[in-house]
Amino acid sequence: MKLISGNANRPLAEAIAAYLGQPLTKCMVRRFADMEVFVEIQENVRGQDVFIIQPTSFPTNDHLMELLIIIDAARRASARRITAVVPYFGYARQDRKPGPRTPITAKLVANMIERAGADRVLTIDLHAGQIQGFFDIPVDNLYAAPVMVQDLKRHYDLENVMVVSPDVGGVVRARALAKRIGAQLAIVDKRRERPGESEVMNIIGDVKGHSCILIDDIVDSGGTLCNAAEALLDQGAREVSAYITHGVLSGGAVARISASPLKELVITDSIQPTEAVRVASNIRVISVAELLGEAVQRTADERSVSSLFY
Ligand code: R5P
Repeated sequence: MKLISGNANRPLAEAIAAYLGQPLTKCMVRRFADMEVFVEIQENVRGQDVFIIQPTSFPTNDHLMELLIIIDAARRASARRITAVVPYFGYARQDRKPGPRTPITAKLVANMIERAGADRVLTIDLHAGQIQGFFDIPVDNLYAAPVMVQDLKRHYDLENVMVVSPDVGGVVRARALAKRIGAQLAIVDKRRERPGESEVMNIIGDVKGHSCILIDDIVDSGGTLCNAAEALLDQGAREVSAYITHGVLSGGAVARISASPLKELVITDSIQPTEAVRVASNIRVISVAELLGEAVQRTADERSVSSLFY
């Protein structure tokens, strides 16, 4: 087995390598003067089972190109099998045509990864499960939920927890987590009654007096999250926290979350946390390195990965 990291999240790659008890393969990923990506795998990978660890997070296009070029280098170096380990799969939110003349970038990126030469993909909490079907190679879509549940048990009194989906689209994900911890489920229903009028937030479920835990796959601008937190507190929630797999946290998101009434936001290290995230007083990062490391080991051993879902 060979583990190769791009530049997107080296600390996570190192933590996966530490879990597996083997070093990262030496691989130079640098830029020419015009910013083209140059890759040189500096160890023999001929006939090896190669795992390339690279979330396609900000700057998405650069990290995606790095991933594709490392896959190409591994393929041309005669790797036996190449698994793209993409903890955060960028471009996933465009997974259907919302209107005429719009792209489906999740499919385009799937095509690119496959065409570059990946034999398998390993990822966590795809924005939509059906993106697996955009590939014609095996895709293991792990869930961060087991890691979140462990953390929730350590930090919260589950008796009083109510799991909340911040929008109708996230109900399946939130319900699955609620089931794992035996909690009730509430839903934030955002509605724009008439064009041009601001959105109204209706809460489906009685959240009064509960510790509300918002569950989502992505926090980007933080708008969805902070609006939901305020609506829940308005309805009498005792406190509001959030567990969200991918901390995209663009622009002023960290400042918005720091200034919000959220007790805490817990994200995973699927995306490398920025310095602003690390010092934010109400953002905590939990690691998916062991989950990914175990999935890598099982893939290499041809053992079941689905048992990691529970
Ligand atoms: C949307 O479908 C996703 O699950 C997230 O709710 C969304 O991407 C969050 O975006 P933002 O933080 O910018 O509101």
